[in-house]
Amino acid sequence: GSCLESVKIAIDTGYRHIDGAFVYYNEHEVGQAIREKIAEGRIKREDIFYCGKLWSTCHPPELVRPTLEKTLKILQLDYVDLYIIELPMAFKPGDAIYPKDENGKIIYHETDLCATWEAMEACKDAGLAKSIGVSNFNRRQLEMILNKPGLKYKPVSNQVECHPYFTQPKLLEYCRQHDIVIVGYSPLGTSRDETWVNVSSPPLLKDSVLNAIGKKYNKTAAQVALRFNIQRGVVVIPKSFNPQRIRENFQIFDFSLTEKEMKEIEALNKNVRYVELLM
Ligand code: A2P
Repeated sequence: GSCLESVKIAIDTGYRHIDGAFVYYNEHEVGQAIREKIAEGRIKREDIFYCGKLWSTCHPPELVRPTLEKTLKILQLDYVDLYIIELPMAFKPGDAIYPKDENGKIIYHETDLCATWEAMEACKDAGLAKSIGVSNFNRRQLEMILNKPGLKYKPVSNQVECHPYFTQPKLLEYCRQHDIVIVGYSPLGTSRDETWVNVSSPPLLKDSVLNAIGKKYNKTAAQVALRFNIQRGVVVIPKSFNPQRIRENFQIFDFSLTEKEMKEIEALNKNVRYVELLM
């Protein structure tokens, strides 16, 4: 229920881009929130930008469209605005989200990312996804798609971890050259949940530079971290289930950072990930 409420508050606050995934197990709540706000007359479907994700157990080309159709059925929407390959590695198809062998090791699945991409292109042609992209792809994996013979559509975006402690300078430059938008996940430094976060890297929002710059503008470290990314052309997808923080994270369009401050924040890069995706 918290997801339903949070998405409704977010839409009322002015958010339009909603980042979801089948594996978050809350697409039914997201869809309901969007549909309720449409019914209220607050928004139209075309105002919303919903991103869904193809999970790693669904990479075989014949599974791609049925998987997206399942997401649409859960959302009760006709299309997603963006559909992305969530991870470049494929796992064994089946009901287990993380299929493991008797030693607890992930069972991978040999598939061809280019064939998966062709199935993504077909989803766009069928009108089920307005645009298609990728996530957690490095430069070589992007090159593989971009250099694919007969490529019909380029990935429009690559969703990767991106924030002041992990600024992604090289990947950002490569993506800029190829007109691929970087969507930065964990833009606030994650929830620091030890089950999936590398907590040996210090908490981003405690950073003294971010807090000092925030003080100058009467903003929080979170707002400075988000502003930093949007000001360099990186899309941010902060997560919050707290109404006050949902609103706080939207109040980033009424100030701007100087070039010197942007450089200072860039210099915070530690090149260390919070989300190591160790599997
Ligand atoms: P909560 O949902 O209780 O607000 P990220 O977007 O980098 O993944 O970070 C999400 C984490 O940051 C969540 O634990 C979220 O908790 C917390 N969070 C979201 N917005 C803020 C904010 N403005 N200030 C501090 N923490 C925040």
